[in-house]
Amino acid sequence: MSFTVAIDGPAAAGKGTISRAVAAHFGFAHLDTGLLYRAVGRRMLAGEAPIAAAGALTPEDLSDPDALRTAAIAEAASKVAVIPEVRAALLDFQRAFARRAGGAVLDGRDIGTVICPEAEVKLFVTASPEVRAERRLKELRAAGHDTDYATVLADVLSRDARDAERATAPMLAAADALTLDTSAMTIDEAVAAAIAAVGARR
Ligand code: DC
Repeated sequence: MSFTVAIDGPAAAGKGTISRAVAAHFGFAHLDTGLLYRAVGRRMLAGEAPIAAAGALTPEDLSDPDALRTAAIAEAASKVAVIPEVRAALLDFQRAFARRAGGAVLDGRDIGTVICPEAEVKLFVTASPEVRAERRLKELRAAGHDTDYATVLADVLSRDARDAERATAPMLAAADALTLDTSAMTIDEAVAAAIAAVGARR
């Protein structure tokens, strides 16, 4: 039987960590849908047309997720994500993943609204831009990147604006989503709240 958990929200709100923890706790499969857009973005940076690239993705494109997690690829992903044909090309794969037997967690921007409107559980994980920029800055510095708070905050705000203001499948909390604002939570508290929300509907 399928059981789908849809987790949406902006970058650096804790979505990824929460999604992995929920999947591990319940034994569900997990798909970080941002990686699909990032893989298309990387192909675009390499000179491919985005729509053709979206139709040509193979498992190989996703085989090294860490290589996709750079600021340049994030920016490219956010740009290709505004193209309706790119989103359409990635739809079937995401829906099939959501319906796999044994349960699935998908995280992204439009999972609860467009990809899986029938999901059994929908969470919208968010935090203030300032808190997200602080978290991202720490991650980047820990990974050895030389950057500063103002640059990271500007990146967070510009990506939020592009993701929330696009015409097709903008970042949006579904009407029936539970919003989890992690601004004042530790990651353990946020994970516990998400697991409780999913457990309540199991
Ligand atoms: O979650 P992420 O930072 O890896 O996502 C990268 C970009 O991909 C993000 O800026 C917007 C886009 N995206 C999207 O439009 N829809 C999704 N379901 C997931 C990501």
